[in-house]
Amino acid sequence: MEQIKRELDAVKRNTLPKRSVAEVKSLAQELLNKMTLEEKIGQLYQSGHDSTEVTGPAFDASKTVENISKGAVGSIIGLNDNLICYQLQKKALESRLGIPLLFCADIIHGCFTGFPVNLALSCSFDEKLIEECCKITAYEASHSGVDLTFSPMLDLVHDPRWGRVMESNGEDTYLSTRLARAYIRGYQQDNLEGYDSIATCAKHYIGYGLAEGGRDYNSVDMSKYRLHESYLPPFKAAFDEGCPMVMTSFNIFDGVPVTVNKYLLRDVLRDELKFDGVVISDYTSSGEVLNHGAAKDDKDVAYKSITAGLDHEMIYPSYINHLKELILNGEVEERLVDEACLRVLELKYKLGLFDNPFKHLYSNPLDYSMKEEFLAKAKDAATKSAVLLENDGVLPFAKDKKIALIGPYADYNSLIGPWGGKTDINDCKTLREVFEERGLDVLTSNGCGFTEMDYSHFEEAIEIAKKQDIIVFACGEPRNMSGEAASRAYLDLPGVQEELLHELSKLGKPIVMLVFAGRPLILTKIRKHVNAIMYCWFLGTSTSDAIYELLTGIANPSAKLTMSFPYAVGQIPVYYNALPTGRPKTLPGIDQFYHSRYIDIPNTPLYPFGYGLSYSKFEYSNFGVVNNTTKDKVEVLVSVDVTNVSEIKGDEIVQLYIHAVASSVSRPYLELKEFAKVALNPNETKRVTFKLTKDTFTHYLNDNYQLDKGKYEIFVGTSSTTLSKETIEI
Ligand code: GLC
Repeated sequence: MEQIKRELDAVKRNTLPKRSVAEVKSLAQELLNKMTLEEKIGQLYQSGHDSTEVTGPAFDASKTVENISKGAVGSIIGLNDNLICYQLQKKALESRLGIPLLFCADIIHGCFTGFPVNLALSCSFDEKLIEECCKITAYEASHSGVDLTFSPMLDLVHDPRWGRVMESNGEDTYLSTRLARAYIRGYQQDNLEGYDSIATCAKHYIGYGLAEGGRDYNSVDMSKYRLHESYLPPFKAAFDEGCPMVMTSFNIFDGVPVTVNKYLLRDVLRDELKFDGVVISDYTSSGEVLNHGAAKDDKDVAYKSITAGLDHEMIYPSYINHLKELILNGEVEERLVDEACLRVLELKYKLGLFDNPFKHLYSNPLDYSMKEEFLAKAKDAATKSAVLLENDGVLPFAKDKKIALIGPYADYNSLIGPWGGKTDINDCKTLREVFEERGLDVLTSNGCGFTEMDYSHFEEAIEIAKKQDIIVFACGEPRNMSGEAASRAYLDLPGVQEELLHELSKLGKPIVMLVFAGRPLILTKIRKHVNAIMYCWFLGTSTSDAIYELLTGIANPSAKLTMSFPYAVGQIPVYYNALPTGRPKTLPGIDQFYHSRYIDIPNTPLYPFGYGLSYSKFEYSNFGVVNNTTKDKVEVLVSVDVTNVSEIKGDEIVQLYIHAVASSVSRPYLELKEFAKVALNPNETKRVTFKLTKDTFTHYLNDNYQLDKGKYEIFVGTSSTTLSKETIEI
């Protein structure tokens, strides 16, 4: 291994050429013309390796090295060891045409430095912050053998029973569209041939987040209207920003599994969105077409996948086992393989892998990671992602307060969340460690576990609580209860955590509840027992420092929810931009037949989209709308003054929504169409102005996006339920 390290250290890292699209296409075509059919098919295959971190059903990696030597592998997934990657890359370069491998990995919310899970980060509404986090992530990943990450995840989510809401940007299309661009810019830096950037893969195309019942991998049924109105825009934004790969999702669309869905992969992706990048399957999703009952055997899987437009098959070997036969017996045109192979080769040329196949391989990745400034940015991101849901004034608390730190997260370091990339939870300090380090008078007791029905430590917890001024109750779900294949039917705090909280509340002391989870939990009952709730999601490597600074006022919470919190599981799905229905919940009066509602709970979520508290106090005034629309152009200027009427400097996320009063289709009560984050000193006022154009008001109908003339209500405010309204005609 020392020899390999020496060779890696000797790799020359000269500046790689930035080639035009035409040059890349020409080089790829020139190479394709030299390739045999087997070699072309090999480029369509993503293999695992026996050191691959498996993120799905097990696979046979016994032939990986042999296949690489024959030029029969295009890319490798999830291989953390740079020395092994180096050896495999050398094998690939020794093959007849020496086409380099592409190394892919799931670097979802941080590489070695863990950032907040994506749902948390989206609550910052901060594109610049996300770009900075992704740039750091790309730097660490590009110095540890990653050429491409399977990120950003752009699924819209409406169901917190689904464990994967933690890696999404929440329930809103417009927000996800803007954040998608920030992810691509941060990872790629418009410099794919650079040494510090990595390529991206937008996923999961498309509709995976609509799985029935929030049960992972379950069926999906979505109209073409909803596809175009709500689900496609974030993907289009990612492609427009230069994202070169898209991953098909496990689900079906209109009855046909997405991975073999010609309408989605050719008509929509290629013809409508003009996407010219690589379409990769999700992990064995091609082979799973058999389980869907939509193919009769592996050969049929290969036939349906290539004709539908799948370019690169992850792990499942239908292409390398059957495509050659399908072509030689005339069932598949070789042209289809050529097109797919060209896209893979073009991606490798764009990345500069033909110029330097070892560009992202280093013998010592940790030397480039976990720098102080990275950890500082992770802390900054964490303080801007935690959402303050309740606060009766107990927060921020003074540093001389005596704290009883109780709950399963009191002294626990698994704070990264699912999809931890190359992070190590041992790099995370626990809350106890930081509270002590930073000089708080703190007594700690878990009091209970996460899921165990064990009451035996309640007494110990209650005893320390009696001695202290404030109880900080650090609770939630453990990391393995969210993420992929972790759907939940109940969304309460697991185990006996709620019982422990109830016992603590009997002491009559102020309780600050910190909730760690990858999804919205049901807080309806337990919120009555506490004086403050800070929703901490999974905030990454610097979680505990960030929380200390938020609780003591060094940092001021500013995040706002991007996913509604249900009042009860039975209320799911609940989201702010729902359609009014013919019997809208907002009609005056309580005529039971005229309200789409539940008779046993309120008709609103517990906490709505766009909601979050601050230690500052913001007031809105002078809301004005100037409609400059003419017959040739739509232009509406919306302005509002935002004043910080407190003595605490803070950030306010100003939100703008529209409502089409009468349209050619039924449109949501509210649609987020602009937002801005404004920093305000004590007693400072800033005037925020948004310029709305035609795109703000258009919607999808009959294969087109159109503008309906007519009346629109314009809303501005601090959340989706606290708004001022003006009405315009365009
Ligand atoms: C997983 C996930 C996908 C991930 C892929 C590779 O099953 O669905 O998000 O990128 O497989 O690990």
